[in-house]
Amino acid sequence: MSDKILEVRGLYFTYDGENVLEDITFSLDRGEFLGIIGPNGSGKSTLLKLITGILKPDRGEIKLYTDRISYIPQKITSLSYNFPATVEEIVSLGILSKGMLKRISRKDYNLIEQALDKVGLLELKNKRLGELSGGQQQRVHIARAIVSNPELLVLDEPTTGIDIVNQTRFYELLGHLNSEMGITVIIVSHDISTIAGEVTTMAYLDKKLHFIGKPKDFFRKILWPVELEDLLSR
Ligand SMILES: Nc1ncnc2c1ncn2[C@@H]1O[C@H](COP(=O)(O)OP(=O)(O)O)[C@@H](O)[C@H]1O
Ligand SMILES: [Mg+2]
Repeated sequence: MSDKILEVRGLYFTYDGENVLEDITFSLDRGEFLGIIGPNGSGKSTLLKLITGILKPDRGEIKLYTDRISYIPQKITSLSYNFPATVEEIVSLGILSKGMLKRISRKDYNLIEQALDKVGLLELKNKRLGELSGGQQQRVHIARAIVSNPELLVLDEPTTGIDIVNQTRFYELLGHLNSEMGITVIIVSHDISTIAGEVTTMAYLDKKLHFIGKPKDFFRKILWPVELEDLLSR
């Protein structure tokens, strides 16, 4: 029996009278790792904002069977570039933002250290965010997400501007959070070849959901590589 964490049915969303998403229907089981690809402007970020409740559907429904969601929006890195806080302070926001605690307890502090260790940033905990590379900054956001103890982690193009070696490490880290910690992951990405090796489910979105299924079926169905590159570069 499957254990669903998300169900989307007949979803439509409109900006300025224009359909951005049309008739999106899919569901996701707990423990899955969903990678969403599609050309620029195809509605990927809009879909994530609908899933996380930032936007409301014009038609259709979204059922989310958890309230423990952690969302890392697109371009969060450039927004926090001059942010004066340290790595450790930013990660502690993952606990404070739950709103239950006014102070960090010893137990919370241990959780923060463990999360920093998991993403390989323990030695950099007293650095300011702006002093870190793009890849390191993204791992800070992942550590912040880990301490908030999410069941669902939602990331929007987290590896933009990160070199290929660190992209691969980043996806390995997400794969670890998914398989070892059982966190369900939804990621929007341009790095199709990198995500294909880590995800359990792949979706191709371009206003409509043209494909959702196993990565190997995706490659079988879409003619590789010419049509796919054409699709993604539009
Ligand atoms: N706040 C907004 N107001 C009006 N149109 C928007 C807004 N945000 C996005 N759009 C439009 O909606 C479409 C989908 O955008 P988006 O979901 O950001 O696509 P993607 O993330 O796939 O690049 C695009 O045509 C974009 O221009
Ligand atoms: Mg986007």
